[in-house]
Amino acid sequence: MRHCLTPLDFTTQELEQLFDLAADIEKNPDKYAHACDGKKIATLFYEPSTRTRLSFEAAMMNLGGKALGFAGAAQSSAAKGESVADTIRVVSCFADIAAIRHNKEGAAYVASQFSGIPVINAGDGGHEHPTQTLLDMMTIRQLKGRLNHFTIGICGDLKFGRTVHSLVKTLARYDDIHFVFISPPELRVPDYITDLLEEKGYTYEECIKLEDVITKLDLLYMTRVQRERFFNEEDYVRLKDFYVLNEKLMRRAKNDMYVLHPLPRVNEISVEIDKDPRAAYFKQVQYGVYVRMALILTLLDIHVD
Ligand code: CP
Repeated sequence: MRHCLTPLDFTTQELEQLFDLAADIEKNPDKYAHACDGKKIATLFYEPSTRTRLSFEAAMMNLGGKALGFAGAAQSSAAKGESVADTIRVVSCFADIAAIRHNKEGAAYVASQFSGIPVINAGDGGHEHPTQTLLDMMTIRQLKGRLNHFTIGICGDLKFGRTVHSLVKTLARYDDIHFVFISPPELRVPDYITDLLEEKGYTYEECIKLEDVITKLDLLYMTRVQRERFFNEEDYVRLKDFYVLNEKLMRRAKNDMYVLHPLPRVNEISVEIDKDPRAAYFKQVQYGVYVRMALILTLLDIHVD
């Protein structure tokens, strides 16, 4: 049985296969409409979500299957003290595959150890968010036609941003990528990420001002300053509007510098950018459904001819 706890669970060759499958699903949705007839996905979301939970449920429904689950720990027996280990044992009796989001780092790994069904990490604290990375990568591949030879700026909360950690680790397996980390000093990228890049021979730079580097970027990955990860409200309020990507800044960017964001957005991308053809964040959401459909098929070992 195979789980998806980190994007590194897949080789780059397997990722290519997954993206090819997702692209085929986009082109030929009818071919896959009954691939999961009779199957169920359980979405166990201990933390808030709009995209990831609904995207998993839509993905399974698009494949002919059904979805069940809970949205919020308070709606589950976690509120009575049940452990993740016991919950996944129980859910293994109800569903064929599970997607779990939890505020604690490592929760999906723990679930995988006790599960009778494949477990997908739908975000564990500030650690990883592998399916966000899969859809980020698919979006880059679709827009740029490649997953190598570019300079990517990653801006915002690089300390707690699980999407950032998963994305950088995954990109650090492709050729000739230069990383530009843009953050306030308090939210700089963790040392373990920069150590990894150094070990693997990647170049990177760190800076505070987006305007200093935007002209050289091929891709810009914006992130939200996450209120829920701060220990005190004062620090959050001080940092929350540190970056606002607006039309003035976008005028300095390359004509093909796509802007990605895992969403939800707060103030870090001005809504006036939404109509800019370089704004790719809503395309990411659409690719997320195709990639999650491909992931469900892959983990359930279902092949469609
Ligand atoms: N990108 C993402 O994880 O969004 P949600 O928190 O809405 O699932």
